[in-house]
Amino acid sequence: MIYDYYASGAEDEWTLKENREAFSRILFRPRVLIDVSKIDMTTTVLGFKISMPIMIAPSAMQKMAHPEGEYATARASSAAGTIMTLSSWATSSVEEVASTGPGIRFFQLYVYKDRNVVGQLVRRAERAGFKAIALTVDTPRLGRREADIKNRFVLPPYLTLKNFEGLNLGKMDKSNDSGLASYVAGQIDRTLSWKDVKWLQSITSLPILVKGVITAEDARLAVHSGVAGIIVSNHGARQLDYVPATISALEEVVTAAQGRIPVYLDGGVRRGTDVFKALALGAAGVFIGRPVVFALAAEGEAGVRNVLRMMRDEFELTLALSGCTSLADITRSHIFTEGDRLGRPFPRL
Ligand code: FNR
Repeated sequence: MIYDYYASGAEDEWTLKENREAFSRILFRPRVLIDVSKIDMTTTVLGFKISMPIMIAPSAMQKMAHPEGEYATARASSAAGTIMTLSSWATSSVEEVASTGPGIRFFQLYVYKDRNVVGQLVRRAERAGFKAIALTVDTPRLGRREADIKNRFVLPPYLTLKNFEGLNLGKMDKSNDSGLASYVAGQIDRTLSWKDVKWLQSITSLPILVKGVITAEDARLAVHSGVAGIIVSNHGARQLDYVPATISALEEVVTAAQGRIPVYLDGGVRRGTDVFKALALGAAGVFIGRPVVFALAAEGEAGVRNVLRMMRDEFELTLALSGCTSLADITRSHIFTEGDRLGRPFPRL
């Protein structure tokens, strides 16, 4: 049940496969005879300096993977000098994660129907030292994840959604469906719209990233709404099936954002070469989801440290073999896409 929850996507899982395959259709145009003896992978995200443009996406209920769950992820992330995004539906609270020590952390927000709950949660995240809110905008309802329906997925009874424990919303009832789908149907606000982004801006001074934009139209609205950035995401292919891979949607979003706000990407990033391709198409950084939960399940904190090290080493090697010594050296000309071959802007496939 737990493996299926982590691994699966929505319905036919077409987008799940495509999130990977689309990366494999982008090829390199490496430059040679460039001194790559020193490589600088550092970058700045919302003003925070990090060691590499690879960050941790929010993934729910990490104590199902390992008893230390989000604690382990938080420690591994700060040891690697990068940013962890904590899920609203974490099995450790914002305060508990903050207690692991210093580190740059973002808080992922799901907007509940009860806005008092949201207000309280945002204030707690602020007090616990979280530096930004990643507002997930692709989940007015939960996608149809058939593995979870078959398994009657439910949070194991020894765990709670820790951020909601005191609010009587920390448990998930068993149902005839996915327990998470029923929880979402009961609690999450389907009316969420751009005016609520304004509302969120009015209750917090933290920068807001909208997570789940995959079109130029919404990218323009995001810029207009004054958010601090966009995360191009299809929720790891767990929401609407048959949306394009995020790497295929990235360039149109970057073009629409016109450099006015940074654009990040998640979905299917598994190799250092994937990170390079995303940056060449205009992303300011990437987030990884499943690699972290699988690493946690394998080896806890050591596993997450290891996955971050592997990604970092591969990305460094990609830079060297492409003739780049820093992120600023990466250009659109270092790669070519199927669209380049076909002479079409922003091909979706
Ligand atoms: C997620 N994702 C997610 N997103 C979010 O905004 N809030 C959440 O609580 C979760 N929970 C979650 C659980 C699990 C098990 C997965 C796999 C994903 C989506 C996540 O933040 C991210 O968008 C994707 O995981 C990125 O794709 P990859 O790296 O998993 O391919």
